[in-house]
Amino acid sequence: MSFRLQPPAPARPNRCQLFGPGSRPALFEKMAVSAADVINLDLEDSVAPADKPEARKNIIKAINEVDWGKKYLSVRINGLDTPFWYRDLVEVLEEAGDRIDQIMIPKVGCAADVYTVDALVTAIEAAKLRQKRISLEVIIETAAGIAHVEEIAASSSRLQAMSLGAADFAASMGMQTTGIGGTQENYYMQRGEARHWSDPWHWATAAIVAACRTHGVLPVDGPFGDFSDDEGFRAQARRAATLGMVGKWAIHPKQVALANEVFTPSEAQVTEAREILAAMEAAKAAGQGAATYKGRLIDIASMRQAEVIVRQAELIG
Ligand code: COA
Ligand code: MG
Repeated sequence: MSFRLQPPAPARPNRCQLFGPGSRPALFEKMAVSAADVINLDLEDSVAPADKPEARKNIIKAINEVDWGKKYLSVRINGLDTPFWYRDLVEVLEEAGDRIDQIMIPKVGCAADVYTVDALVTAIEAAKLRQKRISLEVIIETAAGIAHVEEIAASSSRLQAMSLGAADFAASMGMQTTGIGGTQENYYMQRGEARHWSDPWHWATAAIVAACRTHGVLPVDGPFGDFSDDEGFRAQARRAATLGMVGKWAIHPKQVALANEVFTPSEAQVTEAREILAAMEAAKAAGQGAATYKGRLIDIASMRQAEVIVRQAELIG
């Protein structure tokens, strides 16, 4: 039990985060006019080591010159185990204007990783008299990251979002697969002739959601590598949404519409949620805490469930 109220997560849409390599500036204008809520300009693993300095320049120029509309604009820096990350932060935050909203830290393994970035961001903001407070997002994609997920979720008042990075997570855990998210061929239950594929990402997803919801952070599902498999993407995204995540990455523009579709509550879901709220208001007026809706039990907890869906719809609307 707890007498503390669960803190709300930031009230902004985060249904899809579209990634693009900082070394491919030709993509930036296309990203800006996409339907993604969040844009992640990448300095990390989609950029070859020799291209990092050029990619930083491309990204700074794009932050300053491209019309990003209402997009939440984030830059993924390199991990704290590389020689690149401090220059990523110093150059981007010293030279880019206030249009940048967020810094994404990959491969976070403990709260001190976030503390370190927070300290440097805080110093640069003060030195450069930056007007907008930069927020942070992190990727849980290592064994240490998932082992310390709760302290990471609590690590900084700047922290707004946390993603599960399936590829690096699988590598760090020693998982015997090269698939990036979704169904894995060898992860199944068998009874007689019947085979059922389970979800190898289930535990990490639920652990991230629990840590995020405890500390008011947005939980996000990461990449789905096979961008020719729309149904595989939908299934992965629907599982993540069912477990409480608010959005998913797109590593190719065709995945943006799929993510928006899954993470926007459908009209039928919103109608049902509103009907449940109305039925419960009527029950309360009659002095009852429980009622029947379409032949099933609803009670005050059902109102909280319905409110999640209505709030999501209102936020997106
Ligand atoms: N954002 C916006 N537009 C993109 C895009 C992106 N990330 N990736 C490709 N496009 C554009 C292409 O420029 C092309 O546009 P056109 O029709 O005007 O020519 C169109 O979408 C189709 O692209 P396609 O030819 O299918 O892809 P590609 O071979 O150019 O690139 C990838 C494929 C996967 C290399 C590329 O999508 C990519 O780099 N994705 C992001 C990778 C990344 O950031 N990873 C880090 C996070 S895991
Ligand atoms: Mg990664």
